[in-house]
Amino acid sequence: MDVLHIRGGRRLTGEWTVHTAKNAALPIMAAAVLTSDRTVLEDCPLLSDVSHMGEILTHLGCRVTRNGRSLEIDPQGMNNHEMPDALAKKIRSSIFLLGPILTRFHKATVTFPGGCEIGLRPIDLHLSGLRQLGVEIHEEGGVIHCDGRHMQAGCVHFDYPSVGATENVMMAAVLLRGKTVISNVAREPEIVDLQHFLNRMGARVSGAGSHTIVVEGVRRLHGISYTPMPDRIVAGTLLAAAAITGGKIHLKNVPANDMYAVFSKLREMDCVLTQHEDGVTLHAPERLRPFERLQTQPHPGFPTDMQAQLLALATVASGTSILVENVFENRYGHVGDLNRMGADVLINDRTAVVKGVGELYGARVTARDLRGGAALALAGLRAVGETIVEQAHLIDRGYEHLEEALASLGAEIQRKQSE
Ligand code: EPZ
Repeated sequence: MDVLHIRGGRRLTGEWTVHTAKNAALPIMAAAVLTSDRTVLEDCPLLSDVSHMGEILTHLGCRVTRNGRSLEIDPQGMNNHEMPDALAKKIRSSIFLLGPILTRFHKATVTFPGGCEIGLRPIDLHLSGLRQLGVEIHEEGGVIHCDGRHMQAGCVHFDYPSVGATENVMMAAVLLRGKTVISNVAREPEIVDLQHFLNRMGARVSGAGSHTIVVEGVRRLHGISYTPMPDRIVAGTLLAAAAITGGKIHLKNVPANDMYAVFSKLREMDCVLTQHEDGVTLHAPERLRPFERLQTQPHPGFPTDMQAQLLALATVASGTSILVENVFENRYGHVGDLNRMGADVLINDRTAVVKGVGELYGARVTARDLRGGAALALAGLRAVGETIVEQAHLIDRGYEHLEEALASLGAEIQRKQSE
């Protein structure tokens, strides 16, 4: 397994271009099978989660070809409605292939994707949404059998605005004759991107980004070429890296209009953020101020995927910050190791009380999940001495070689094989 070796104390400076978004590309890859035409994702992020999704599509009979940064999906030969258990367990987001498979075959078999480091990750909202479209679902020994022969357009309401469940039902509805109204949907920007993608394929979806999405069914969809939106979490992570090191960086290809909650917290910590035509500049203060309270919420609230990174910043702020993680029940896996680096964080259920300290000290730490791993790397950029982040492959799930971006901005960081 790879590890990251980081020597802290360098201020980050310079410029970097953010890659396309994992959480846009994955549902778009699932949507590509809604037609038997070829689709090309022009700039598809080089991430392990994307590769795993490609493996699942290949298992289902699609031809998936990577040409540099572009990814071609040819679903012509798709002939399998059964999700491969072992592969599906590798990425939770495989669950939103359920809608497209049902649309293609009017039946689907999946197993429970299982929890992960940040929580149990149930799929009850996915199944409830599909049932409301008339899918008959029964579970037997951990296997979920879906019969979509009587699927029909109608009304779907979510008890909670789940991102994946919203995407699943959108994709299940696009070829259902009539109008489907989906209420209390997630409003994440990646859902707006999925709507753009589906409509470019010939679908008629509206309302993404609001609390209600309306789908007018069409007869068929066609293949397209498409570039997913930029990754707002990668952008936020790199801005946080500049912030924790007292640096000044300029990021290009940033979806700034989707990042106001993150910008607002960085400004509260005394960072100066300036939006330009081509991106965003962050100028960090000598010492970060604490933020009063950070509560993770569905978009447009503060994104849970940026909680770990802002918690890392708070560990060296000039006072006490409070964080509340409302979205996932177990998303403080990074705190133990941050405290081993000299941070002073107290966790009580979903609340973290972070007392800023003057300095962090390098240590050997372990990434437990994608964003927690990135947060440990950020702490290493600041810490005195060397930090070694183990299980770096978890970071590769959502960041294209994070060490390259950080090194190009002046960090002393290297990827090595673990001893
Ligand atoms: C998506 O996960 C993202 N993943 C996550 O990013 C992100 O953290 C999350 O949305 C929230 O923004 C992708 O888009 C591939 P949810 P998803 O369904 O769809 C509960 C990252 O680091 N829930 O909105 O799984 C669930 O347990 C990853 O890039 C149910 O109870 O998120 C959680 O507590 C991590 N039943 C909450 O809802 C369900 O059926 C939010 O989950 C589904 C979800």
